Parts: sequence; structure tokens; C-alpha cells
Amino acid sequence: MPARSLDQIVSLSKRRGFVFPGSAAYGGLGSFWDYGPLGAELMRNVKDAWWKAMTWERDDIEGVDCAILMNRKVWQHSGHEATFSDPLVDNKKTKKRYRLDHLLAAQSPQLLKELQAMLQRLLNAATLRESAQASIGWPDTVDLNWIMTGLVEYGHFLEPTAVLSMGYRHPEGHEFNMMHFKPTGKDGLRVEFAVARSGYDQTKTPLGEYDIVDVVRAQSPEWREKWYRHFSEYPPLIAGRPSSKPEDLALCIATAYRNRWHAAGLLMTHFCVTEPGTNEAGDWSQPRRFNLMFQSHVGPVEAAPGTEEELASRVYLRPETAQGIFMNFKNVLDSSRRKLPFGIAQIGKAFRNEITPGNFTFRTREFEQMELEFFIKPPQFLREGEKTDEQWHAEWVDARYRWWISLGIDTSRLRKRAQDKSELAHYAKATTDLEYLFPGSLGWGEVEGVANRTDFDLSAHSREVPEADLKRLKLEANKDSVTTLDYFDTEAKARYIPWVIEPSAGATRAALTFLCEAYHEEMVKEPPQAEIEALKTEIDAVIKNADKKKKDAEKEKDPAQRKHDPVAISAFQAALAEAASRLPASLMEIDTMLEDHAGAQNLEPVKKLKPKVNKLAEDCVRVVLKLHPKLAPVKVAVFPLARNKPELVDIAQRVSRELRHFCKAIYDDSAGIGKLYRRQDEIGTPLCVTVDHQTLEDNMVTVRDRDTMDQVRISLEQLPHEIRRRLQLH
Ligand code: GAP
Repeated sequence: MPARSLDQIVSLSKRRGFVFPGSAAYGGLGSFWDYGPLGAELMRNVKDAWWKAMTWERDDIEGVDCAILMNRKVWQHSGHEATFSDPLVDNKKTKKRYRLDHLLAAQSPQLLKELQAMLQRLLNAATLRESAQASIGWPDTVDLNWIMTGLVEYGHFLEPTAVLSMGYRHPEGHEFNMMHFKPTGKDGLRVEFAVARSGYDQTKTPLGEYDIVDVVRAQSPEWREKWYRHFSEYPPLIAGRPSSKPEDLALCIATAYRNRWHAAGLLMTHFCVTEPGTNEAGDWSQPRRFNLMFQSHVGPVEAAPGTEEELASRVYLRPETAQGIFMNFKNVLDSSRRKLPFGIAQIGKAFRNEITPGNFTFRTREFEQMELEFFIKPPQFLREGEKTDEQWHAEWVDARYRWWISLGIDTSRLRKRAQDKSELAHYAKATTDLEYLFPGSLGWGEVEGVANRTDFDLSAHSREVPEADLKRLKLEANKDSVTTLDYFDTEAKARYIPWVIEPSAGATRAALTFLCEAYHEEMVKEPPQAEIEALKTEIDAVIKNADKKKKDAEKEKDPAQRKHDPVAISAFQAALAEAASRLPASLMEIDTMLEDHAGAQNLEPVKKLKPKVNKLAEDCVRVVLKLHPKLAPVKVAVFPLARNKPELVDIAQRVSRELRHFCKAIYDDSAGIGKLYRRQDEIGTPLCVTVDHQTLEDNMVTVRDRDTMDQVRISLEQLPHEIRRRLQLH
């Protein structure tokens, strides 16, 4: 059985040198990780396996290695500067931050329905319906994505003071078309007439400050009626119901003005959007987009952000390697004289200032990608029998699925999932994710996305793109580019911009996936029955002890005052009792469970039980990483049976030196043979070679297989060949 919890992988990684927290001497840096000796080997092997599958085993793909920093215009025209962002919202009460889409997805269908209806009513009233319709549509049914975009994109425009642009009367009798709020006076109820209707003579009637109540009184009854009706539409935004009395209307105007940058947050608060995992309504900030690209500057720049000078030198750390490939499409085409279809592959670092990094190396801010852009003919230029974009897409989804399986991922933990329309990136016509079933609460997570990017990117970076294509792709004409990234089809005698199918996998995420899949704990020795019985008795005592704590906690009526959480205690008791009934098979599960439940309420019993479980596990259970030989950081470990026998040491060292010509082989004599085997099992070394006394007589060594633990004698002469065969290194 593969890993049951990500903690098992985190702990192994640290213990054995796969992955360490970055900048640890200074307390680390949010979600940056360093790969240690074994992690560096594993990463290299993952990338090699991908590179070979793409560029060695196929004859239609070339590789590139592009610069991380590119001209800012690349990211402007690719759409990343405008849209590569996550919508965020804060709960001002709990100070917790959420991705708006995640937050909305956790709400009830009824709440979403009401929120969408209100948002549509407000956009209608603020005469924004047409622009909203053009950019995000106007759905008849509840659409989570629409609500999210509506709140983020149109939130600021929902301010009810927009109605004031209808012209009104200066308290001294003149007519004006704009009022300038200056909410500095008592209760913020003051305004300044700043912009006047044409013909206004400022020397005769200077601009002045007025109490807004006087301004309201100066308006006609019809006008006040209009305001009143208008504000009646906006209860959440003015924090109450208006009346037609001038004082109340004035208060509405001032409140609405103050709230103008918070309208979307107020709506969410008004509709009692709750914090996930609780039933508590939040006090929500205005949701806003947060661009995920890290910025830097080329050259010494001290200009203020957003100024012309700053923008001219601004660069982004690439958030995907793909754009480097698009930039080099013509270079590769011309230098390699390729014909469609063909692909360009790249492996390299990518950076995203993720809002919610975590789950160890699953989502980090610096990671590595393995991306292929596979260029194909556009649908209108296909000849009979040639594959359509949809067929290529399906073919790549299958090919990539097979790659993961070929490296040891079990089909029960790998699935293909077509993205919903609302999930698609701005460039994609369709995307199918390959998802792996990660252990614990992480569950199904994307390890690779295969996208049909159509001709979006090459068109976005091209100078001359037909008007109809720009319209279809929702692109502006590119006046910055000096080239057109097109292809001359000698058979069709036509130039066109190719389409692209993109399989994009994370190398760092892949390494984590393979570690989770490979991790196994196996009972190698039956624990003594008496010790198992003693353990069961201790577990019973712990469960009873927890019962007392639970009852004490329940006596306290106010949950906030409780020292212990009775629900958590019950869950712990149930899990422990169930696992105890399956001892000794569940020995390691109990070990993990004790770590998972090491919360305050269970600390004492956990402290008592853990060393005993650990001791039994150490004697009877082996941790083994069943990594595919191609991925294993160390391929062979060579030991002398006794380190104080120079004849054995000599042969073992010579053997390991010879094996190093074609694979990563190590020599070790730092412990007894049993311990050495265990250490190598734990890091996934497929083969161990032992030189013993018999070797001196028959020139044969013992080769032990990691997974079966079978041992065979092989002659020294045959050893390199046999090792190559077993490691599939042909
Ligand atoms: N060029 C397309 C693209 O970048 P993506 O789905 O955003 O698409 C592709 O990323 C892959 O990169 C993902 O399937 C995942 O394996 C990996 N990836 C993305 N963001 C990551 C992060 N923050 N940390 C680790 N891996 C990440």
C-alpha cells in the first residue's frame, strides 16, 4: 500500500535527504524547498525519463532551453499580465484569506442563487449590463464563475453614487452636473461642488463646502424621489433601508460614497457568505485580483512602481516555460527544417507567487515544469486522413497517461479529468488533467494538464493576424511584435499560424507523486503475540482516558471555553479502536495516526503510546521505496560482509567503481548487513550486492532484490550485464 499520509513522505524526505525546507537557518521562506543529495538525483531521473520519452524516443520533437527572464511584452501579449491572477478575499473578522472561487464553491446553492440575482440587479441598475454581458456573459442559471468574475471585475462599479451624475442643484440655486465628495466633515456628511456645468463662473460663485443634508434639501422633490428609489435597490451597500427624508437620504449618499470601493465585499457580507469549514458568516473585504508573477527589474532602477521608467525595465520570473517555446517557434522551425506536425520540449524552472502554497512540494512558489508544445495544422488546412486538433489532443492525453503508468503509477490512482468550461485557462479550447490520488486530505490532485491552446499564443505574439482570427481569439492586434509566427505549408501553398497541443507536467510535483506511490511499509517479522496483547491493553486504557476528557469537555457549555474538543476526541478514539482490532497489520498506521492526532487534547496518551509503537515497528516493519529503477536515486549499493576483512573490502570497492561507469552505485560498510539493507530499502535502491567470504573462493557475489528481498548468487564477470538487465538500462 502506498503512503497513507503526506507526513510519511515529509518525514522520510528530511530524514534521508530528499527535500529540506529552504533557508532553514533563518526560519525558512514560505514554501521554498531545497533538494538534498537523493532528491537531486530523483529530480534528475524524473526529468531524464521525460526528456528521453519526448526527444529521444520520438523523431518529431526538438528540445530547447530558454532564458527565464523575457521581454515584459511577452507576458503582456500572452495575457498573463492582465489575467494570470487569483481572486482573493479576506475575512476581516478572522483575518483569514481565501481564494474567492474556493470560498464561493463552499457556499449553499440557495445563497449563490440569491447573490447572483442581486449582482445582476445591481449591474442592471448601474447600466453596466451591456459591458458585463460582453465580457462575462449574462447567465440564466446560477453560474459560480460568473458570480466570481462579476464580484471582482464589477465590484467597484456598483457604487450607488453613480446615480448622482444625473445633475443636481447647488444649494445656492445653480445647476451642476457633478459633485465632489469630501467626507472629512462631521460624520463625513460634507460635499464640495468641484466640477460645474459649462457656463459656470467661478468668480461669481466660488466652489464651496456644504453639508450634504443642505444639498439634498436643495434638490427637487422628483429628484429626491429618484434617489430614494435608487438607494432602495442597494440595501447591502448603504447598510440599511433608506427613507425619503432629506437627513436619511443624505446619510445614504455619504455611506454609499464611503463604501464605493467595498461594494462587492459588502454584498458578500450581506448575504452571509460563511467561512469554509464553519457556519460563521464572514465580514468580507473587497475581493481583488492578485497577479501571481514575481517582478524584478533589469538594470539599476529606482523609479516608483507604475512609472514609465519602472515599466520599461520591469521583468517577470516566468510563470510557465511555454512562452519561451513560442518565442522560439520560428528559430527551431528554420534551423531544424521541420514540417508540421512537430513539437518543442523544454524543462525548466517556473515561479508563481501562489496565494495558498502548501502540501509539501505539491504547490510551491518555485518549481520545475516539463512542457511540450506540439504544433499541428489548423482545422481548415487538414487533408484527408490527417488528425484533427481534437484527435491530437486525445492522443497526447493517452500518451502522457501511459508515461506515468510506465514509471510505476498504479491505474487505480491515476485518472483523466476533462476540465469544466469555467476552469479553462484564457488560452485553452479544452484541457484534460491527469490527476493522482495523493494520500490523506490532499486527495485527487493535478499532476499534468494537456491543453488544446489552438493558435492563441502564436497569434498573440504575431504582427499580422487576420481580423477574423483576432476576433475569434478575443485578441487585440499586436503592434509591438516585429514578426509573424506562421508556417508555410508547401503542399497547401499557404501561410498560416499553427495550432498547439500542450502536455504540461510539473517535475517537482512528479517527484512527489512518485515518492507517494513508491512509499511502502511492510511487516517483515511477526511481532511477538505477548507484545501485541500488551499494546492492545495500553490502547484500551488510552481510549478510556480520552473518554474522561471528553466528558469533562462536554460539561463546559460554551464551546469557545472548552480546553478539549469532544468531537476530535471521539474521532481519535474511533480510529484508534478500529486500528487496534487489526493489529499487528495496522502497526504503522497506528504510528501515523498518533502523529496526526498529536493535538493538545491527545498529547498525553500519544506521548505514552508512541515510543512503544515505534519500538515494535522498528523491529518488525521495513520502509521501502518501490521506485521504478529508472527513477531510483541510487541504483546499486555494494557492501563487504565484514568491514575488517581487507580482501572483501577491496573487491566490494572495485565492484562499485566498475558499476559507476554506467549507473549511480555506492559503497557502504558503515553498519551490519541487515541495517545496510534497510537503509537502502528506505531510499529505494533496487539492488544490493554483497561480497562475502565465499566470493574469495567462487568469484560470485550475492545480489538482493529490493522488492522481493530474494537473493541470488551471480559471478563477478556477469555482474555488470545482470545489473543492466535488472535495472532496464539497456
Ligand atoms: N503552460 C501551462 C501551464 O503552466 P498549469 O496547469 O498551470 O499549466 C502545469 O501547470 C503543471 O505545472 C501542473 O500540472 C503542475 O504539475 C505544475 N505546477 C503548476 N503550478 C505549480 C506549483 N505552484 N507548484 C508545483 N507545481 C506546479
